[in-house]
Amino acid sequence: MSLLPSWPEPIIRVQSLSKSGIRKIPHRFVKPPSDRPCNIMDITTTSINIPLIDLENLNSPNDSVRQETIDHISHVCREWGFFQVANHGISHELMEKTRAVWHEFFQLPLEEKQKFANLPMTYEGYGSRIGVEVGAKLDWCDYFFLHYLPQVLKDENKWPCLPVSCRKVISEYGEKMVKLSRRLIKILSIGLGLNEDYVHKSFGGDGESSACLRVNFYPKCPQPDLTLGLSPHSDPGGITILLPDTDISGLQIRRGNNWLTVNPIPNAFIVNIGDQIQVLSNAIYKSVEHRVIVNSNKERLSLAFFYNPGGRALIKPADELVTKDCPALYSPMTFNEYRSFIRTKGPSGKSQIESHKSPR
Ligand code: OGA
Ligand code: NI
Repeated sequence: MSLLPSWPEPIIRVQSLSKSGIRKIPHRFVKPPSDRPCNIMDITTTSINIPLIDLENLNSPNDSVRQETIDHISHVCREWGFFQVANHGISHELMEKTRAVWHEFFQLPLEEKQKFANLPMTYEGYGSRIGVEVGAKLDWCDYFFLHYLPQVLKDENKWPCLPVSCRKVISEYGEKMVKLSRRLIKILSIGLGLNEDYVHKSFGGDGESSACLRVNFYPKCPQPDLTLGLSPHSDPGGITILLPDTDISGLQIRRGNNWLTVNPIPNAFIVNIGDQIQVLSNAIYKSVEHRVIVNSNKERLSLAFFYNPGGRALIKPADELVTKDCPALYSPMTFNEYRSFIRTKGPSGKSQIESHKSPR
């Protein structure tokens, strides 16, 4: 699949649109009625607390406490595909500092952010759309995308240079998130009955595994009931660790035919399973569809940290999880090949993983 050398249409910075004071959003952002967030006024009545895991329990001297925690994580990955983690080892101060530098970045004048304008070849930098289809509906969001791993893709010169402290803070945040991700994928492996290094090795190990950050900025929207901050999708990669904004919700997850608004717990991270773990676990763990709604009186920022297979890693259902009764549901595919779908088509619910099912 070829990725275009430049965006097919002029880029619209959503933050500039929002600041311009328009009362009606351009038609490019207006979703068809069936895709709009219904009952936007009712979101408080459908908000939920997704399972919370205390990661400190993994260090308990008591074997049964450790085992129960692993079992709990394994259960929520099967039933929910989403959970929150507390006592995760990342200081609240670092979480706050990281949010603050990104808030500052998005408040910079447009010219300053434009210096980092991204292209669909790599998506690195300051962006305002996912997907390159001409005429596609757009989401009410600007973002910044950068790489931490593999080392060859990490290039701090492509990261914001203002505020001055930001590269140091972003780097420290990345280091801590890589460690947390590696801890979590061990638990996920064990929860599947696999060797604790199984997922790590399948992702290409220390040298190849990839890690990147997308900071999403959802400006205030004059007609939040007509659009979405991020259209329904499942994350294409391994696991996502989301640091949501304080005091404002926006993330919704799909349970059956309902969209439930996630109540973020202060100082916790929201973790979710991506498509590659669904494939590798032969659909025992679920990569759940989610979307983001926007707000008329508050902007919102979220940091989505993605821990993924290396681009050349061939991901397929683990042999140990393939049996006569549970044949392999997916054929092997490299992560680069898999990810080019969302980068071309944009967020499209669960259509990619569905179409990736092995023919039978
Ligand atoms: C994402 C995502 C949710 C949010 O970036 O993939 O789902 O709350 N973000 O911003
Ligand atoms: Ni997502």
